[in-house]
Amino acid sequence: MILLKTDEEIAILREAGRIVARCHELLAREIRPGITTRELDQMAEAFIRKAGAIPTFKGYHGYPAAICTSVNDEVVHGIPGDRALVEGDIVSIDIGATYEGFVGDAARTYAVGRVTRLARRLIGVTERALMAGIERARPGMRLSDIGHAVQRHVESRGFSVVRDYVGHGIGRQMHEEPQIPNFGPPGRGPILGVGMVLAIEPMVNAGGCEVYTAEDGWTVRTKDGSLSAHCEHTVAIGRDGPVILTIP
Ligand code: MF3
Ligand code: CO
Repeated sequence: MILLKTDEEIAILREAGRIVARCHELLAREIRPGITTRELDQMAEAFIRKAGAIPTFKGYHGYPAAICTSVNDEVVHGIPGDRALVEGDIVSIDIGATYEGFVGDAARTYAVGRVTRLARRLIGVTERALMAGIERARPGMRLSDIGHAVQRHVESRGFSVVRDYVGHGIGRQMHEEPQIPNFGPPGRGPILGVGMVLAIEPMVNAGGCEVYTAEDGWTVRTKDGSLSAHCEHTVAIGRDGPVILTIP
């Protein structure tokens, strides 16, 4: 069952989303060669708590940190640690915050200093694929229209979309129904309606779409070692179309 949110609930989700977005702004200013992913995690956790929110990911199925930091061929769920970022890396940062019982969730991929043209293209295509998906999050569309738009954008530019992880409904729980694949035919699944809130999150690989989970039990990597990017917004379906909640 897809839980519909009231205007009051969406106002709180917007606050949660704002905290996540401002945390991204903070980390964007701090990302540079030499900083460790643990330092980014500590800054994010301090920021989220100071804003009166809780880092949603910490303790979720035993996840040990406030954010996910996935570098280069790491796709999602990279655990912050001693790794220092170096010039030329790309790092996907995923942040969740629970505010007054509601969850905001957003991810972005950042370049560390100067990066290759391929890396820049991958990040740009992933960001625009997310926007193409969000554009379909409007009343009367069908759920699979979102993933179809994402896949078309990505594959027409020569990249691939990860199949093994999907977006999700979001509200009092980080993961609610429905699941939102980033691929598939259009015109399938539930009809989208006002009050649905969705976390849309394409993961895009420069090479093949296959991934595996590393020995730490969390970090997901591309099988072929190619670069991967991840962009996510929490989006409410409003009367006139999509409303992105994870903006400052
Ligand atoms: N945005 C991710 C998701 O929707 C973040 C989850 S990381 C976890 O699943 F550690 F909390 F699992
Ligand atoms: Co998510």
